[in-house]
Amino acid sequence: MKIPLLDLKAQYLSLREEIMEAVGGVFESGRYILGPNVSAFEQEMAEFCGTKYAVGVGNGTDALVLSLDACGIGPGDEVITTPYSFFATAEAISRVGANPVFVDIDRNTYNMDVTQIEDKISERTRAILPVHLFGQMALMDQIMQIAHKHSLIVIEDACQAIGASYEGRRAGSWGDAGCFSFFPSKNLGGCGDGGMITTNDAALADRLRMLRAHGSRKKYYNEAIGYNSRLDELQAALLRVKLRYLETWNEARREKADRYNSLLVGLDLKLPYTIPKAVPVYHLYIVAHPARNEIINSLNQLGIGTGIYYPVPLHKLDVYKGLVQGPLPVVEQASQETFAIPLFPEMTDSQQDYIAEQLAGILQDLEN
Ligand SMILES: Cc1ncc(COP(=O)(O)O)c(C=O)c1O
Repeated sequence: MKIPLLDLKAQYLSLREEIMEAVGGVFESGRYILGPNVSAFEQEMAEFCGTKYAVGVGNGTDALVLSLDACGIGPGDEVITTPYSFFATAEAISRVGANPVFVDIDRNTYNMDVTQIEDKISERTRAILPVHLFGQMALMDQIMQIAHKHSLIVIEDACQAIGASYEGRRAGSWGDAGCFSFFPSKNLGGCGDGGMITTNDAALADRLRMLRAHGSRKKYYNEAIGYNSRLDELQAALLRVKLRYLETWNEARREKADRYNSLLVGLDLKLPYTIPKAVPVYHLYIVAHPARNEIINSLNQLGIGTGIYYPVPLHKLDVYKGLVQGPLPVVEQASQETFAIPLFPEMTDSQQDYIAEQLAGILQDLEN
């Protein structure tokens, strides 16, 4: 049985009429950049995340870069973050001229180990940038406490965690800014690139709107060196349709993750761990085993999709060789052992049963 890591076509087919109507409306209107769909989607996202404002931008990477820039973070500054993320997290920090300072991760959640943050605070530290990896939020209560104590800005990388919550508060509503990606494979995915920044700070929202449009509040009266990073109407129209289904899809992901947990519980495999105060959205279902590479080869031969998130911790990348940091043993081990198995809302029980059976067989063979 062929089972992809995720199936974007299945989602499209389930909403085809609504999507085509929404997208058709954009073509009829002739407005393609920052129009009524973007404004409405910004409001809907703010409401969904529980923030006062949301600002649409070109992609999740830009959401991070603009947030850092709008908060005044730049050359010589340090931003404490996790080495276990997509490159964009650290890249955004470097892009504004600051330096990422990596703390090791927690071995159960794979999110930043908050107990190590204070040791890394220096005179140059300006911000903490936690990532809610794989759809589970970082320990935001403790991160916010540390930030308040040391007067640091907090920017949440919520690109993988739209709809996730911690202590009943959604991702993107804890820090000074929350950054989202609508890359097609995300839980809320567009048909191209897209991003959003959430915030409760009116002045920050205003500055972000100015920066995303070439540093101008009024056309041709540019007041800062900004960016061309705008969400377009086609993406917003599509994403507005999909946002209406996001809660149902995230719930389906949780149900399927629970089902995997009970199917796989007896196997010699490290399963995802949920912290008690968190409601995750399982952007990815991550398991771990020391023989990861053999296991994924066998799964792939059977037609079962897998993914490695991420094979190289960020501090080990050549671009960060100059920043002597580490060793960070927990992330270094995790990057050798973790892998994702298929999880998407439209997945069937028989697909899950098949994957669990095949995994059991592969692990059995490894033992013999
Ligand atoms: C954790 C994380 N941060 C940032 C990004 C960057 O988002 P984008 O691809 O929309 O630029 C992504 C996704 O690609 C991500 O997973």
